[in-house]
Amino acid sequence: MTMSPADSADTAEGLALHQIGVRFGGLVALDGVSLRVPPGRTVGVIGPNGAGKTTLFNVICGFVAPTTGALTLDGRPLRPRPHRLARLGIARTLQGVGLFAGMTVLENVMVGAEHAGQRPEAAREALERCDVASHAHALPGGLPYAVRKRVALARALVAQPRLLLLDEPAGGLGADEIAQLGELITGLPCAVLLVEHHMDLVMSVCDEILVLDFGKPVAHGTPSEIRMNEAVADAYLGAAA
Ligand SMILES: Nc1ncnc2c1ncn2[C@@H]1O[C@H](COP(=O)(O)OP(=O)(O)O)[C@@H](O)[C@H]1O
Ligand SMILES: [Mg+2]
Repeated sequence: MTMSPADSADTAEGLALHQIGVRFGGLVALDGVSLRVPPGRTVGVIGPNGAGKTTLFNVICGFVAPTTGALTLDGRPLRPRPHRLARLGIARTLQGVGLFAGMTVLENVMVGAEHAGQRPEAAREALERCDVASHAHALPGGLPYAVRKRVALARALVAQPRLLLLDEPAGGLGADEIAQLGELITGLPCAVLLVEHHMDLVMSVCDEILVLDFGKPVAHGTPSEIRMNEAVADAYLGAAA
């Protein structure tokens, strides 16, 4: 299916955030954030530290209730709850890794297949997609960090989600590993919401990008539009100063 950004703005399919606001006491973490993640598309959310990226992720996962605004899935109201995400076809990886130390790689991925049909087959397929099938019977503790992150990704993919949420998947990875991750993300059949501060990764894999600064949307567009946007440069230069 091909879809231009203009078309996707008119369809109710997929996840949509409508004017989301989040306050923590006096601190405004998100303010008037609207975003759509249509089926099959990869949407990036970038911004300096403290911009509200993880808060946005937590709103979608149901860890944080929005103070204002609403979410919809296929046009229907959505009140996300963490334990119900899998049933909605939404999977996520956590910042960091979060594997069970006492279980093999394969067993860890099977945990993610709890609701899926043919478990071992699905687990193998997810491991292969993430290029870690050769580690199936190893314990995670002895594996390099980049491999463990891929196993965590396989665990999220095993249930064949329609939407995958990734919070800083490139964190702690080297340049080559980030490039490999980019290829993997590009090849995924599902929609992806990528929260990340590695600009290169976001620019190479996303169809569209939302830029947040102090909780506010400051830009939204294709990677090339974002690259040329002055407000984006200002937000990042401001953070680096
Ligand atoms: N649970 C919380 N309680 C209070 N303040 C929070 C909480 N979570 C995040 N914040 C604050 O909200 C702002 C946005 O944080 P966050 O979403 O983690 O940003 P990012 O992921 O873009 O670095 C920051 O100022 C942060 O300190
Ligand atoms: Mg964060």
